[in-house]
Amino acid sequence: MPVQSQIRARPDRYRQELRADARAGLTATPKTLPPKYFYDERGSMLFDEITRLPEYYPTRAETSILRSYAAEIAELSRCESLVELGSGTSTKTGLLLRALLDRGTLREFIPLDVDSAVLTDAARLLAAQYPSLWLAPVVGDFEHDLHAIPPGGRRMIAFLGSTIGNLEPRARAGLLAEVASTLGAGDTFLLGTDLVKDVGRLLRAYDDAAGVTAEFNRNVLHVVNRELGADFKPDRFDHVALWDAENEWIEMRLRSVGDQRVTIRDLHLSVDFAAGEELRTEISAKFRRDGIRAELTAARLEPVRFWTDPDGDFGLTLARAAS
Ligand code: SAH
Ligand code: TRP
Repeated sequence: MPVQSQIRARPDRYRQELRADARAGLTATPKTLPPKYFYDERGSMLFDEITRLPEYYPTRAETSILRSYAAEIAELSRCESLVELGSGTSTKTGLLLRALLDRGTLREFIPLDVDSAVLTDAARLLAAQYPSLWLAPVVGDFEHDLHAIPPGGRRMIAFLGSTIGNLEPRARAGLLAEVASTLGAGDTFLLGTDLVKDVGRLLRAYDDAAGVTAEFNRNVLHVVNRELGADFKPDRFDHVALWDAENEWIEMRLRSVGDQRVTIRDLHLSVDFAAGEELRTEISAKFRRDGIRAELTAARLEPVRFWTDPDGDFGLTLARAAS
């Protein structure tokens, strides 16, 4: 079973960064916490549950695009090494792996994720499903650690699930520039983006009837409690999802139920929440085809092809490093 043990891009940095991010975010106005801390073992499990919710269409839409066009993507990329950023369970990625193996070029798969637990589970499943593939999982942060990706042959970097939409525009530009500089001649980049659509459908995708997204949102408080010895009472925060029409993004917040004081022991910090005060946890930007093209081009990535699902809900773009 050719699974390399996990490469850790920067061991011990996680808690250090969480401390700095939590201090900055919880003393800011408005208060914020960065989204990568949703994803510990429980967070990754909750996200996996989100992908199967009736309201959460993006996973099904992107899967249907991959089902239709994976062979075409394999033909265009002919990669020997596939790198996936924010890979999670890599379930959809199986469609790409299969097509690339059928095309006869692929040798290795490098999933990169902040959550080592989800990488362990994914690698175990993938090793059983694709025994000929060399698996080299990397625990790291896609905003800082692309240099930790081991060199391979012709490479494709995939960034699926519209995770790029969870970054603010400036951070997106930075990430795309890093991706471009990680690609050599002939390498490709595959980007999944959720598209602007009916606001009601968007809101329901981020505020499901079963309350899984609410629990996922509150998970960031559980993580801060465990990692920094804080005493957030997660059930004293209501899940809020709203549409920001100007920025065309969904914004997720946690709204304080009543006045409360939270102590973050390891930071020697106490913060007060007024009743109704909102903590910003996540944005999920929605894209238009022209905007995707413009952001890629600005990062010196040349769009080669754009696919969408039959309902036009989701977009998948293949790009090449500009020469
Ligand atoms: N690609 C999967 C999962 C998307 S959820 C899909 O399309 O369904 C987002 C994934 O990105 C999670 O697995 C999360 O752990 C990971 N992630 C979030 N922020 C990250 C960061 N800064 N660096 C690396 N991985 C990150
Ligand atoms: N990349 C996913 C998205 O933007 C992440 C996500 C789905 C998410 N549901 C969420 C993040 C709820 C925070 C809260 O669709």
